[in-house]
Amino acid sequence: DKGGHKHFMAKEIAEQPRVIGEAIMHYLSDDGRSVELPGKGIDFTAIDRLSMVACGTAYYACVTAKYWFEQLAGLPCDVDVASEFRYREPPVPARTAALFVSQSGETADTLAALRYCEGKAATILSVVNVPESSIARESDLALPILAGTEIGVASTKAFTCQLTVLLMLALKAASDRGRMDADTLADTLAKLRALPSAFNAAMEDADDIAAAARKLAEARDILFLGRGLMYPLAMEGALKLKEISYIHAEAYASGELKHGPIALIDKHVPVVVMAPRDALFDKTTSNMQEVIARGGRVLLITDKEGKRITHGDAWLTLTMPDIDPLLAPILYALPAQLLAYHTAIAKGTDVDQPRNLAKSVTVE
Ligand code: F6R
Repeated sequence: DKGGHKHFMAKEIAEQPRVIGEAIMHYLSDDGRSVELPGKGIDFTAIDRLSMVACGTAYYACVTAKYWFEQLAGLPCDVDVASEFRYREPPVPARTAALFVSQSGETADTLAALRYCEGKAATILSVVNVPESSIARESDLALPILAGTEIGVASTKAFTCQLTVLLMLALKAASDRGRMDADTLADTLAKLRALPSAFNAAMEDADDIAAAARKLAEARDILFLGRGLMYPLAMEGALKLKEISYIHAEAYASGELKHGPIALIDKHVPVVVMAPRDALFDKTTSNMQEVIARGGRVLLITDKEGKRITHGDAWLTLTMPDIDPLLAPILYALPAQLLAYHTAIAKGTDVDQPRNLAKSVTVE
């Protein structure tokens, strides 16, 4: 049942404020001031390192979470694509927590990577959407993301719920490890609770995003740029776009632009720049100016103040509600998803069942 939407993907995008809100409430303590995990939980003081492994969109959720775990909790983190991890056979030091992220919980490479860590890692954690899945069953602690069934092949609500749960886990790690005091934790959780309403507010601008997507649909190649927490989201935006619109899209860390990819810039290659006003905003917008100076057409995704500061220099600007930079990758997933969705609609491709792709990849 598409609930009045044209596609499952549109329905699942629209469900995000509700399911994100439910995931937050599931892991929030009764007084709203701390994070509570099910079962025996995990004590992050007993861990020296976190190793995260996943595929595709779930992998980009892990790359985002690496910034959170390292910056908030001071916990060194590795992130690997499962198909590489399992055959590289990396050493797993004893005080490592291994964390596997999977919507289906059945992805063959991710499951094989989990089995490789059995008996090596101090503990095996998973962040899954299907609680009875193989990956959940074979973990010491499985954390459900509570996104509900996801039918669209291109993952949307599972991604933002993965991010939500991973951020809450990073906040727990920060507090366990004495890196975040109780009041800062409570403040941050209060901001997180306001995220669903920011999502709803952002959805009111869906028409602007659709209009921008119709312009993107004419391109053959599109670049996505972001820095810091926005870099993994740029990768996710590029993946979403290529999966359902079949337009070639690549993401780069903004700072890498001048090390090669800038050679691609001309008026035929739109560049999507993800830039909330975080500590790296000036650096990202100066990369944006380099693109504009070479005739590139920039689609800037920022907030009102970001738009004002860049005085409409971009070809197109989409404005998002103001948000704490820590939470921006979750909120900015929405325009990334809607750009892909409306570009695919403009091109007439099959949004829910893109060619050559399966929802659950149970063979390697
Ligand atoms: C992207 C997408 C895939 C999956 C990947 C992992 O939209 O859906 O990249 O994210 O196949 O799947 P799970 O999360 O089920 O392990």
